[in-house]
Amino acid sequence: MSNSTSYDVAAIRNLFPILNRKVKGKNLVYFDNAATSQKPIQVIDALVHYYTHYNANIHRGLHTLADEATAAYEASRVAVQQFIGAREPEEIIFTKGTTESINIVAKSWGKAFLEKGDEIIITSLEHHANIVPWQMIAEEKGAILKVIPMDQNGILDMDAYKSLLNNKTKFVSLIHVSNALGVINPVEEMITLARQFNAKVLIDGAQSSVHLDIDVQQMDCDFYVFSGHKIYGPTGVGVLYGKRELLEQMPPFLGGGEMIKEVTFEKTTYNELPFKFEAGTPNIADVIVMKPAIEFINHYGKANIREHEDKLLRYATQKLKAIDGLKIIGDVENKVSVISFIIDGVHPQDLAILLDNQGIAVRTGHHCAQPLMQCLGIVGTTRVSFAAYNTLEEIDVMVQALEKSLKMLR
Ligand SMILES: Cc1ncc(COP(=O)(O)O)c(C=O)c1O
Repeated sequence: MSNSTSYDVAAIRNLFPILNRKVKGKNLVYFDNAATSQKPIQVIDALVHYYTHYNANIHRGLHTLADEATAAYEASRVAVQQFIGAREPEEIIFTKGTTESINIVAKSWGKAFLEKGDEIIITSLEHHANIVPWQMIAEEKGAILKVIPMDQNGILDMDAYKSLLNNKTKFVSLIHVSNALGVINPVEEMITLARQFNAKVLIDGAQSSVHLDIDVQQMDCDFYVFSGHKIYGPTGVGVLYGKRELLEQMPPFLGGGEMIKEVTFEKTTYNELPFKFEAGTPNIADVIVMKPAIEFINHYGKANIREHEDKLLRYATQKLKAIDGLKIIGDVENKVSVISFIIDGVHPQDLAILLDNQGIAVRTGHHCAQPLMQCLGIVGTTRVSFAAYNTLEEIDVMVQALEKSLKMLR
């Protein structure tokens, strides 16, 4: 697809069977895409095709089914490599998801390289997945976790970041796009600053991988992580990208089959990348269907999808702001199609229940970012998040339902 004038949202919607379902007797309006996106028919069909035609364990078999499954699994690795601009497929490790990918880095890299008194920097916007693993390894190693503050709209204080960086900074782990607010962080600039102190940098791409063009080489991050289920792909699969030289220096995370070169009762030598980090039988089926998910995005084009989502974002922002007592948190220019808001005198959970009664799926609560909510002085927000298949009409339905709900709640 070449440009947005040919962006055919009706055709895209036809690829997503779930969008035809009714909820509580109403057409489903799915605005919980930042939690997980729906899956196009190509992904669903590929999953069924794998189990129907070539289910087999990979890498070790010497039969046709094993060869086919191995080829499809490795083709997905190449698709992911190209999707994020990695130098080679060996730098792509398949994991269970963003959470597991961050845990591997914190535990494996941290175990090998962190020492007492070393410092790790994260931001105030982090998802729990990019806080807890660092707290765990910091406690184990006697390292110190430092947090970059932000303003009330989720904009990071870059001067504070600069003053936190020093020769003891060993690792900087940054959320690229806030799942709670949609705000995009200036990670390129932040990586350049971290480099001055030789710190390693991980980018949590759980929310950026689907919306922004990602080129890990150009970004020059050391690690980039994301989950399949947020890019129109399956649950249970994620990606850990790491620079080869770092992955080679890191000890394995899990021990077992597949990650070994040779085992005796006395000693084991480890397999090469990427297998060193893929112990045991992996989630073969779901890894394989990462490829059609990526092909779906590539077919329509990230830039075209983003343009469509930006239109939805601008329209919904304007409509929501007109609602009495409603305040958007993270009302900034540089953001993706996520809108988080609070309404005077209304508990987000009450609102979510009333919206669900009208067929509308939104998310409420702390969005796995309790420290962020504490910084904002709130318990939670209502979050609507848009994907390639959402429409302006759905926003109208949501706003009408919201107004109706508010009449009941106020
Ligand atoms: C920014 C961010 N980081 C990490 C995660 C964790 O991802 P997963 O639950 O797929 O491991 C999420 C999921 O919502 C997220 O939005």
